[in-house]
Amino acid sequence: MVFSDLMPVAVGQPQRLDPARTGQEAAALESALRELIVGQEEAIQQIVSIYQMHLTGLASPGRPVANLLFLGPTGSGKTRIVEATAQALVGNPNAVIKIDCAEFQHSHEIAKLIGSPPGYLGHRETEPLLTQQALEQYHTDKVKLSFVLFDEIEKASDAVWNLLLGILDKATLRLGDNRKVDFSRAMIFMTSNLGAAEMGALLRPRLGFTARHPNMGPPDGRLTQKIRDAGQEAARRKFTPEFINRLDKIVVFNSLGEAELRQILDIELRLVQQRLLSDCAVPFGFSLSEAARNHLLSQGTDARYGARHLKRTIERLLVQPMSNLVASRQLGQGDWLRVEFDAEARALEFLRDRQGLWMKPISARLETASRASSESPSTGTGAEARLSTRTRPVLEEVKFGE
Ligand SMILES: Nc1ncnc2c1ncn2[C@@H]1O[C@H](COP(=O)(O)OP(=O)(O)OP(=O)(O)O)[C@@H](O)[C@H]1O
Ligand SMILES: [Mg+2]
Repeated sequence: MVFSDLMPVAVGQPQRLDPARTGQEAAALESALRELIVGQEEAIQQIVSIYQMHLTGLASPGRPVANLLFLGPTGSGKTRIVEATAQALVGNPNAVIKIDCAEFQHSHEIAKLIGSPPGYLGHRETEPLLTQQALEQYHTDKVKLSFVLFDEIEKASDAVWNLLLGILDKATLRLGDNRKVDFSRAMIFMTSNLGAAEMGALLRPRLGFTARHPNMGPPDGRLTQKIRDAGQEAARRKFTPEFINRLDKIVVFNSLGEAELRQILDIELRLVQQRLLSDCAVPFGFSLSEAARNHLLSQGTDARYGARHLKRTIERLLVQPMSNLVASRQLGQGDWLRVEFDAEARALEFLRDRQGLWMKPISARLETASRASSESPSTGTGAEARLSTRTRPVLEEVKFGE
C-alpha cells in the first residue's frame, strides 16, 4: 500500500490534538530525570522526545536511538544525565559504557575497544569493550536499550573518530575479528568541553569564566541564547560537517547558579540518606538545619567546578565525619543525627537525637515489604538485608530540614 491509497473516511467532527503531550513511559522518564537533574531543561526534553520516538517506532531506521552531543562547563550534569537516564530506564545508573576518548590514542589502545585482528599480538587476550554482549549486558525484560558515552570527543584520535562516525551513521561497528556489533538499540551520548572558554567569557566578560560567582544567578534569555550559539559555533568550527550532520542535536548545558546548587544539595543529601540506609553497617537517619545547609553551600560553591565541588564538600564536611561517628560507635543503628552549624567555630556540629525511635516504624515497614517481595535477597543478614530492599518509601518520610 502506498500513502495515496489511504482514503480518509470522515467520522464526525475533527478533533484538535495536542502534539506536545507524551505517552506514559516517556512522561515517567521525564519525571525521573527531573528528580535528579537540575537546570538542564533542554537536555531532558531532548532525551525524552528521542525516547518517545523510539517507543513509537518513528525514529529513523538503521541509526542509533540517539546521537546527542553535550557541550558546556565541567560539573554541569553532562555525565550525570546519562547515568540518570540509565537508572530511569534499566534501573542501574552504572549501566553506561563509558569511553574516555583521550585514553584511546594509539592503535594498541584501540584494540581495547574493538579487539585486534586474528593472529595479532593480544588477540583473544581480553574481550574488547564494545562487543554485542557488552552492549546488551544491562538489558531488562522490558527495556532493550544500551547507553554508550564517549567523553571528551575532541581528544579522539583519527581511529576512534572513524569508528564513532560509523556508529553514528550506520549503527554498526566491525570488531577486529570482523564480528559486527549492532548499535541500533543504543543511545549514543558524546561530551566535549569545547567552547567552554568562549561560553565562560560571555558570562563574565571582564573577569573570565572562573571568576563568575553563582550568586549572580542564571543568565537571562538573550545571554543564554548567545552562550548556546557560541557553543554551537565552536563545535562547528572544530568538527567536520559529516560529523555534525549525523547528530540529532547539540545540547549546550547551562552553568549552574546558586538556586540550582541549592536544589542539587537537596538531591545529594537524599542520596546520602539512601546510602546510609542501604549500605551502612549501622543505618541511621539525619537532618540538617538551614544554617548547616548554607554552610555546605558556601563551602561547596566554586564556579570553576560546578556541582562537582559541592559534591566533594558534602563528602568532606558531612559524610567523612559521619563515618568517624559510626566507626567510633558514637552513632548506632537507628539513631537520629542532627547536623547544626556552630557559628563561632564556623563548622558543622553533630548531635545525636531521638535514639532508636525513628527506625522502629520504618524497619517494621521494610520487613513487611521484604516479606511481600518475591525478589528479597537471600544474602546478608539482619538490618542490612532488610534495609537493602525497598528503601524508597522510607526516603519519602525522611526530612532533612528542621
Ligand atoms: N545539573 C545537575 N543536576 C544535578 N546534579 C548535578 C548537575 N550537575 C552536576 N551534578 C552533580 O555533580 C556531579 C558531577 O557532574 P557531572 O559528572 O555530570 O559533570 P560533567 O558535566 O559531566 O563534567 P565534565 O565536563 O567535567 O565531565 C554529578 O555526579 C552530580 O552529582
Ligand atoms: Mg562528564
